[in-house]
Amino acid sequence: MLYQTLLRPALFRLDAERAHTLALTAAASLARSRTLAQIVHDAVARPRSRPVDVLGLTFPNPVGLAGGMDKNAVAPLAWWAFGFGFLELGTVTPRPQAGNDKPRMFRFPATGAVVNRMGFNNAGAVAVADRLADQTRRGLRPPIPIGISVGKNKDTSAERAADDFAGAAAVLAPHADFVTINVSSPNTVGLRALQNAADVRALVAAVRAASGTKPVLVKVAPELGGADLMTVLDAALEAGAAGFIATNTLSTAGRPDLPQGGLSGRPLREIALKKVAEIRAHIGTRAALIGCGGIDDAASARAMLSAGADLVQIYTGLVYEGPFLAAEVTRELAKSSGRESTKTDAQKD
Ligand SMILES: Cc1cc2nc3c(=O)[nH]c(=O)nc-3n(C[C@H](O)[C@H](O)[C@H](O)COP(=O)(O)O)c2cc1C
Repeated sequence: MLYQTLLRPALFRLDAERAHTLALTAAASLARSRTLAQIVHDAVARPRSRPVDVLGLTFPNPVGLAGGMDKNAVAPLAWWAFGFGFLELGTVTPRPQAGNDKPRMFRFPATGAVVNRMGFNNAGAVAVADRLADQTRRGLRPPIPIGISVGKNKDTSAERAADDFAGAAAVLAPHADFVTINVSSPNTVGLRALQNAADVRALVAAVRAASGTKPVLVKVAPELGGADLMTVLDAALEAGAAGFIATNTLSTAGRPDLPQGGLSGRPLREIALKKVAEIRAHIGTRAALIGCGGIDDAASARAMLSAGADLVQIYTGLVYEGPFLAAEVTRELAKSSGRESTKTDAQKD
């Protein structure tokens, strides 16, 4: 295939972030033309898929773009053209920030992994909201659900974290179909400490109040487990969370063989899969669940859906398999009868 034989070798000669920026620039130029995007969509993303109804939304297929790939919403229409059934843009903080020093993204082709410590580099909530509004005005918003992930600025104290999450949500929710609370990146000091019942309850309440009627999800870390995970899930549900995303990257702290940051891709797959099963067993039909981590083909996507996910998301798989991975996975999923989409109690009211 063209990506594996031609594009990937060229991109892999570049630094990982440089390759990502180039790919994003190419996607952004495609996203500027409705006609071109439609042509690409018709060519690669034609397969009829079984739509999924969750979160009170209809997803044309269950394969989404994971947070962090398009932090600033530069190419939504291109992701749709490539076959994605939904997007999670961001993570966006209230104020723009540069992120950590480079290099901060590393590939490990032998294991299909990536390590990153980007640190929420993003243009800030107002700039991203303006861009989304502009895309809508110009008819360049794709016909798929768009979620926006919100976070806190690096220099905001833990005590003021809820103001950051709610501030970003207030600006961005009008342009989103759902809002995600990212308390699980390992690359902002103190962020994961917010994964406790009291903070999660307060964050969900604050973000819900700022997001109007839009469903609010919480994205969790793969390390969160046992009783800690259960109390966080319960607190989020009590505060009205509509769903969860499992998982974010695995911290490489204490792994001298790897750069410091968060591990994604194939080595995360089994861990994320177990986490999804564990979460589904606990929440039952009370909320939606999006599985993320190490999906790079139809079999791994199917395994995630079978473990209890309503939808899946991909980031690292795109690095290794190319932009048409979502279309390929969707096509394969549609061939197999798959799992019937189920409505959760949360969506029925
Ligand atoms: C370079 C990079 C940047 C990321 N940035 C974000 C982010 O801003 N927000 C977020 O929620 N997740 C972020 N993630 C995590 C992914 O959304 C996803 O949870 C994780 O990579 C596991 O999925 P994967 O194995 O398909 O990559 C990032 C991942 C990578 C590789």
